[in-house]
Amino acid sequence: LQNRDVNPQIIARNRECLRAVDQWITDEIYRHSRSGYGCPERLLPMLNLPLDEEPTYTDLLVYCADRISRPVHYLELGVSVGKNFYVLANVLEHALMVGFDWERINPLLARHFHSGGVSGPLAIYTKGTNRLMYLQGDIDSSVDWSRLAGIRFNLVFSDACHQPEMLYREFEMLERHELLDGEFVMVWDDLDALDAGPITRAFLAIGRRLQQDRGIPPEGCFRIALNGWLGQHEHRHTIGVVNSIGLTAAAFAR
Ligand SMILES: C[S@@+](CC[C@H](N)C(=O)[O-])C[C@H]1O[C@@H](n2cnc3c(N)ncnc32)[C@H](O)[C@@H]1O
Repeated sequence: LQNRDVNPQIIARNRECLRAVDQWITDEIYRHSRSGYGCPERLLPMLNLPLDEEPTYTDLLVYCADRISRPVHYLELGVSVGKNFYVLANVLEHALMVGFDWERINPLLARHFHSGGVSGPLAIYTKGTNRLMYLQGDIDSSVDWSRLAGIRFNLVFSDACHQPEMLYREFEMLERHELLDGEFVMVWDDLDALDAGPITRAFLAIGRRLQQDRGIPPEGCFRIALNGWLGQHEHRHTIGVVNSIGLTAAAFAR
């Protein structure tokens, strides 16, 4: 993913957003969490380190959002402390954004948003022109997914439980509850680096299903290596993309 593809202004703006937050989580919040917001304790200090200009999956998501013709309806599976969700809430406009995680919303994240009340397991917020919802629930539970019925998402980020069976489950839920728009980009974090890895094989199988069912050309399903939530402070992530809007790996060649 090069700067000629991702407008350098996207990266600069995303980094500026992150710099505005110096602490993503407190010991107290971490201790009272269900499973540490998916962050091993030894990595906690790294959450606050500044990121360089190397593209991350957040930059990719903003790049994709800019290419979707309709208002963005974004679903993030696995929000954690909210580093990615926060940036998108700041830079998108007129979007509907839903975060789904079995942790309660990180109180440090929620204080950046205007609360619009609670509707069952859904907490409602606004940020600028964006409408936000946080669904505290289990991504394995069809009942929890049913709370989202009626929304058609055109940008989905799968970043919760990086196990093949959960990737299949998420896809099954998106299909069962008719949550995926005809025009869509779906992005998966943390696939295996190797083609034969179990998570990559699940991604490829889901990609084939989407190709068959929705007429996506084979080149609409691809993988790229990008930095993740800790940027240059950890290894590159293998990111999977399936889309109906004409994005191909060629656009992201290094
Ligand atoms: C890697 S973190 C997400 C990072 C975040 N997307 C970002 O970029 O900043 C994974 C999150 O998935 C959540 N998670 C894992 N399994 C889940 C499940 N079955 N249901 C709901 N949330 C789950 C964890 O609580 C954790 O917060």
